Amino acid sequence: MDPKKWIDVNSESFQYSLDHFVIPDHYEDALSSVLIPHGVIMDRVEKLAKLIVQESTGPLVVCCVLKGGHQFFADLVNYIKKNVTRGNKTVPLSLEFIKVKSYSNETSGDVKLSLTDEECKEFSGKNILIVEDIIDTGKTMVQLLAKLRKYNPESVKVASLLIKKTPLSNGYVPDYVGFAIPNAFVVGYALDYNEYFRDLDHICVINDHGKEKYAIKN
Ligand code: HPA
Ligand code: MG
Repeated sequence: MDPKKWIDVNSESFQYSLDHFVIPDHYEDALSSVLIPHGVIMDRVEKLAKLIVQESTGPLVVCCVLKGGHQFFADLVNYIKKNVTRGNKTVPLSLEFIKVKSYSNETSGDVKLSLTDEECKEFSGKNILIVEDIIDTGKTMVQLLAKLRKYNPESVKVASLLIKKTPLSNGYVPDYVGFAIPNAFVVGYALDYNEYFRDLDHICVINDHGKEKYAIKN
């Protein structure tokens, strides 16, 4: 078993009832199931951190893709620091943040990146680790990578907590993946639906009522 191979979360066997976990009251009617409980997420993030330390060859610029990536980024960086203090391999880290916005309701619009030219120049000659919450169609990441590579980094790797098994995928697969998930819209652990559900610890599947309740209405 390759430890870098993701955990395949299969919709039939891996859907937990909401009743078995603590869910904020304000979201209970908007979710259909818990897909990945918070504790399982944390255990998998710890393992990804360990693999990243083992495979790193020098200082890393860990680059958080906001907003959805912030929780995974924070936990991953914490585990990397702990791993470094436990083992004898040290990996100096510096932290960067990129804001990306590509979703309104569920449909992907155009990808907007917040990087200025000046900020991008900082990446020249560095080993970059991009930290993203989810690869869905792959469109955002392919555009982001194309943009970053123009600034001649030494290397660029990508860690994504989730990859969605969707027919709309462009085939892009990151270097590190936590879980492959079914083709459903998921929220929680900083993943949002129109800015809601970031304050939910577990990764859950939103239901039709939730999509309607939190839709952007024009
Ligand atoms: N949930 C939240 N954000 C997303 C998703 C998803 O399923 N896919 C792409 N961005
Ligand atoms: Mg994202």
